[in-house]
Order: sequence, then structure tokens, then C-alpha cells
Amino acid sequence: MEYKVTVLRGDGIGPEIVGEAKKVLKKVAELEGFSLHFQEELFGGAAIDACGEPLPEKTLRACRESDAVLMGSIGGQVGVSPWYKLPVEKRPEAGLLRLRKELGLFCNLRPAKLYPELRAASPLKEEIIGEGFDIMMIRELTGGLYFGEKSLRVENGEEVARDELIYRAHEIERIAKIAFSLAKERGADLVSVDKANVLESSRLWRKIFTEEGEKEKEVVLSHALVDSMAMQLVRNPGKFSVIATENMFGDILSDEMAEITGSLGMLPSASLGEKDFGLYEPSGGSAPDIAGQNMANPLATVLSAAMLLRFSLHEKGAADRVEKAVEKVLQKGFRTKDIFPKQKEEDIVLLSCSEMGDELVKVL
Ligand code: NAD
Ligand code: IPM
Ligand code: MN
Repeated sequence: MEYKVTVLRGDGIGPEIVGEAKKVLKKVAELEGFSLHFQEELFGGAAIDACGEPLPEKTLRACRESDAVLMGSIGGQVGVSPWYKLPVEKRPEAGLLRLRKELGLFCNLRPAKLYPELRAASPLKEEIIGEGFDIMMIRELTGGLYFGEKSLRVENGEEVARDELIYRAHEIERIAKIAFSLAKERGADLVSVDKANVLESSRLWRKIFTEEGEKEKEVVLSHALVDSMAMQLVRNPGKFSVIATENMFGDILSDEMAEITGSLGMLPSASLGEKDFGLYEPSGGSAPDIAGQNMANPLATVLSAAMLLRFSLHEKGAADRVEKAVEKVLQKGFRTKDIFPKQKEEDIVLLSCSEMGDELVKVL
């Protein structure tokens, strides 16, 4: 088999972490006997610098014509980088939001798993970590506050900013169906997260999830308010297995979930639509504070590449192999700076981003 993968290297640490994920993909393809054709395109800040647009039409076309997209995070230091002097629709993030929308990628999967070797990297106490946790978050990705109407105007001499939060029933129904089917697959309970005590959109969300739950009797559904969820995640993360939520809440809770696994550099993501095609990127950002220093953690991007193999290419053997390789390098004691223990531990070795990629290739 031969597959086409569009690569969007991104900004900041983007090119560094994507480079390592590509290295791993190339090796696993060789081992598993299929071929990958990578096509690099401009995107985000890099595209703004080259042609004034965060999402050039050529890039969008290449994405549409490929089996999957592998992406590094985009953006610069908000408010500091010259990209943030541009009109909003010309900034890196606008390119990402448009890409997700244009490609119909409404379902964002963010798995937060605590590897046993990283217990000490988690900011949670041992007694809270308990048996550990392995949570799949399903984040709605093309609706809500992100895509409602926005305006900034002057009223009575005062600036007034407006962001509309809108959800249509069909947008909630399709994500609810996926959430129930994933929970069924895992034999797990499903927690739907909303703010139904305040928001109309959340009341519709809760109603639709409840109706879907009446059809899906095998899955136990419960509801949590987002503020309480933020608290429960750091009080007893082991209680949760599958969580579904809307766009903005999912953005915020996924950073929290990443941190309790040890680092934002560990959390992969898959953005999916109706078909097999998907966009795969780490959940964290372009980390301008550590960019260009070969010290970023490439594992979130490597795990995103494993999701690409699994969901878009259906190369299950290769996906399993990459995920196993991540476990193996952690077992061997290899760590990047973000997950390196604060207290000295024997047999733990600090690696650069590219050394971590090399070790992964060795153990594949
Ligand atoms: P960030 O996620 O880039 O960084 C937050 C902290 O996490 C930093 O200390 C950073 O060093 C660390 N971190 C993140 N990824 C890491 C990795 N792989 N290895 C080691 N450490 C890592 O958040 P920010 O600084 O608030 O945002 C920077 C830029 O990234 C902004 O322009 C933002 O819009 C953008 N962003 C992009 C995406 C995306 O493209 N998917 C996601 C989030 C943020
Ligand atoms: C993420 C990011 C993006 C989001 C930004 C960069 C638009 O934070 O993928 O989590 O909010 O969705
Ligand atoms: Mn985010």
C-alpha cells in the first residue's frame, strides 16, 4: 500500500517535533511493508511569512488530496510576535480553525494516559494517582464559541466585544454518537461535560446526550458541570474513562489532563470527520519558550502519528508498534527535559528531542 501524508511543520517547536514523528513513521513503514509519501506544505506563521496567508489555498488542496495530515503546532508568543499585529483572520490560529472547519473535522480525540514510568512527573500526589488513569476525551471541534459570530465595536464611547456561542442539534448529535460508540468499545461509562446551569447551548447538549443515552442502554451516562469536572480531574482522575465535551471546555480541560500525565508534550490528538481522513497534531502549542533548542518532547507528536496510522491508514500493526516504542523508551529511562524527574533517580537519562526520536527508531 502507498499513502499520501501532507506534513504541516508548524511554528516554534513544530518543525522539531514533526521531524521526529516523520523519522518514526518512515521507519515503521519500512518495517511493516507499506510506503508513505510525505508532502510538506506551508501553514501557520511560516505561511504568513512566506505568502501573507496562514492557510494558503495550495496547502488546503494538498490536505484534501491526501490520506491524512500530520501537523506541528502553530503560532508565536501571543501579543509579542509580529503575527499578532495582523488582522485576526490573517493570524496563525485563524488558519488552524479554518483548516479544521474546511476539512469537516468536528471530532477531536485527546487521550490522556499516565504511563507508569511518569508517575513522578505528574504534579499529582501518589495517593491521588492511585492505580493511574487512561482517559479519552472527545472534544467537539467545529462549533461553539470558536465559530460563532464575533464583533468588536464602540458603543457610547466604550469598546464592546462579542463572541456568540452557538450549537446546532445535529452538531451535538453526531459527536454524541461517537462518544457513545467509543464508550461502548471501551466498556466504559461516559461523562458528558457542560455548563447546563448557565448556558442554553449546554442545556441542548445535555438534552441530546440524554436522548442518545436512552438508545444506548449499554453505556452508563452521567453529566458533570465543567467547573466541577476541572476539580474532579485533579481529585480523582482514575474515576474517568471517556469524557465528551464542547469545543472551548475541551480545549481547557485537555491542557489540564495533559499536565496530570506529566507534560503537555505527552498528549496527542486526532481530528476526525465523517470519513477516514484526519488531521493529527499534538494537543499543546508551539512552545516559543523552548523553540529551536532541540529540547521539546516529541512523544505527543509521535503518538499523534500512531493515531494517524490507526484511524486514517488502518495500519493497526504499525500503530501498535509505535505506541509500544513509546512505552519502551520510557521503560528504558529516557526522558526529555519536561518529564525529567526533579529529584535524582538512577538510570534516568536526559535526551534531546532528536535523541528521543533516534531511540524510538531503535526500539521500533
Ligand atoms: P504552549 O502549549 O505552546 O506551551 C505551554 C507550556 O508547555 C510551555 O512551557 C511549553 O514549553 C510547554 N510545552 C508545550 N509543548 C511541549 C513539548 N512538546 N515539550 C516540552 N514542553 C512543551 O502554550 P502557549 O505558550 O500558551 O502558546 C504558544 C503558541 O501556541 C500560541 O501561539 C498558541 O496560539 C499556540 N497553540 C497552538 C496549538 C496548535 O497548533 N494546536 C495548540 C495550543 C497553542
Ligand atoms: C488546541 C489549540 C487551538 C484551540 C488554538 C491554537 C486555536 O489551543 O488545539 O488546543 O484552541 O483549539
Ligand atoms: Mn489548546
